[in-house]
Amino acid sequence: MRDQVVLISGGATGIGRGIAFYLGDLGAKVAICSRTQENLDKAVTELQQAGVDAMAHVCDIRKPDQVERTVGAVLQRYGQLDVLVNNAAGNFPALLKDLSYNGFRTVVDIDLNGTFNLTKACYSAWFAEHGGCIVNISAPFEGAGIPYQAHAAAAKAGVNSLTRTCAVEWRGQNIRVNAIEPGPVSDTEGMQRLNSELSVQTRNAVPACSPRDIGKAVAFLASDDARFISGQCLAVDSGSGVDLLKLSLAE
Ligand code: HXC
Repeated sequence: MRDQVVLISGGATGIGRGIAFYLGDLGAKVAICSRTQENLDKAVTELQQAGVDAMAHVCDIRKPDQVERTVGAVLQRYGQLDVLVNNAAGNFPALLKDLSYNGFRTVVDIDLNGTFNLTKACYSAWFAEHGGCIVNISAPFEGAGIPYQAHAAAAKAGVNSLTRTCAVEWRGQNIRVNAIEPGPVSDTEGMQRLNSELSVQTRNAVPACSPRDIGKAVAFLASDDARFISGQCLAVDSGSGVDLLKLSLAE
């Protein structure tokens, strides 16, 4: 990753922050964007204290004009863009009966449309001409019914579809596009919300990984070691997604 330029949406907190630090430790130049200046300032200061060449730009990924300005700022600062990590997401647990029209639309707008916006802006401004790599942080929801997550599950299924279509359409332009489907990740707003707002308990505890573990998977997919891997959705979940019987098999 040395001297690779990486743009991470939602890179100031949670999984995005873990990705930023891991790739930064490997020598990448790290640009992060999010809606909140305060979070960005804190994260950039900490990244720089850790010796990482880092910058931040305020951006609501729902707004194409802000997205284009962000990509422009990254190119102005670093003169290149090698990896886009579409990590920013919005979510809250709610049953379908409690989801307002606007609540559903808001999550789809952040998770799916926001991913498209940043993908398109990076493609137009840099990847189309120079190639590049995109890693979308999705969710292990596709192909199942997910109570309390109708909005996020629909959006993330869309992200997986977008991942595959981008991979095929842009294969001839040296652009690889993959997704990661994290299982439970500790120290994230998503997990805190699930634990504190959800009135039901998940039936069998699945071991939570750290944001840095997701960074390791991103580093692999973004690296030349993965140069023949594109259009894939990789679960990083200790195998919980394929554990259909969910029996307790403690040794
Ligand atoms: C029901 C809710 C709600 C809740 C918001 N809404 N929270 N409805 N239950 N708990 C409704 C609001 O009433 C409103 O609809 C609509 O959603 C938009 O809400 P706003 O607050 O106006 O939107 P906004 O300020 O843009 O905030 C977006 C947000 C917020 C998604 C609602 O939670 C957010 O910004 N989250 C970002 C951080 C985050 O969630 N990170 C965790 C990602 S976890 P009405 O009809 O009233 O106007 C993740 C992992 C997935 O993605 C896997 C998890 C298992």
